[in-house]
Amino acid sequence: MARRRIIAGNWKMNKTPSEAVALCAELKDLVKNDAVDVVYCVPAIDIVPVAEAVKGTNVHVGAENFYIEDKGAFTGEISAPMLKDAGVEFIIIGHSERRDIFGENDILINQKVKKAFASGLKPILCCGESLALRKAGVYQEWIKRQIVWDLSDVTADQVKELVIAYEPIWAIGTGETATADQAEEVCKMIRETIAELYDADTAEAVRIQYGGSMNAGNAAELLSKPDIDGGLIGGASLKPDFGQIVNA
Ligand code: 13P
Repeated sequence: MARRRIIAGNWKMNKTPSEAVALCAELKDLVKNDAVDVVYCVPAIDIVPVAEAVKGTNVHVGAENFYIEDKGAFTGEISAPMLKDAGVEFIIIGHSERRDIFGENDILINQKVKKAFASGLKPILCCGESLALRKAGVYQEWIKRQIVWDLSDVTADQVKELVIAYEPIWAIGTGETATADQAEEVCKMIRETIAELYDADTAEAVRIQYGGSMNAGNAAELLSKPDIDGGLIGGASLKPDFGQIVNA
């Protein structure tokens, strides 16, 4: 079964609402490709204008964060029903910046994955190791442990709809990319982990992205690997280069 490629931009904390609309206009013709799922994961305040700007195009809207309750006294947070109502389909969960800067742990990340599925949002679940863990040679065990925790009580049918992004922290925003072989090694290991936790069909269905300084120059080689089904792109998602990655 051929998996459909998914190229997602993670805009992070960039673009005001008016800048976001301008970027959508700039990218509009460049990201046309009906064979690929194209997603813009944008800051919360940009969701409504971006959803409006991409209406009628092949671009899907994603969010970068949410909280696990539907409503209530959670100052500063936004909920899954709010995202759904605004037109969001995908949600990034467990990004290393949320884990490291905002202290999100695997217990909360697992709750978010379950809540996203229960709410009809498709999670893009991030995992990945620090440079220290890679140098220590324990990165595979680390990532496996993240997957096991983050998918606790998540069903096989849900995992078939899941996107997992392998993002080595040492390659995020550094200009240093994992080689295509390094990226494939881990993405393959993630798929094998899904096969062990679930079954062969589920492992075959789950889509796995690489993220970490993916750009117009290296995308084609990374995406040619059998277990890399797409990319989660930071810096290059804010530029016309994103169109080249979509069409790599
Ligand atoms: P860069 O593409 O800027 O390295 O960011 C990767 C990333 O963190 C995507 O979520």
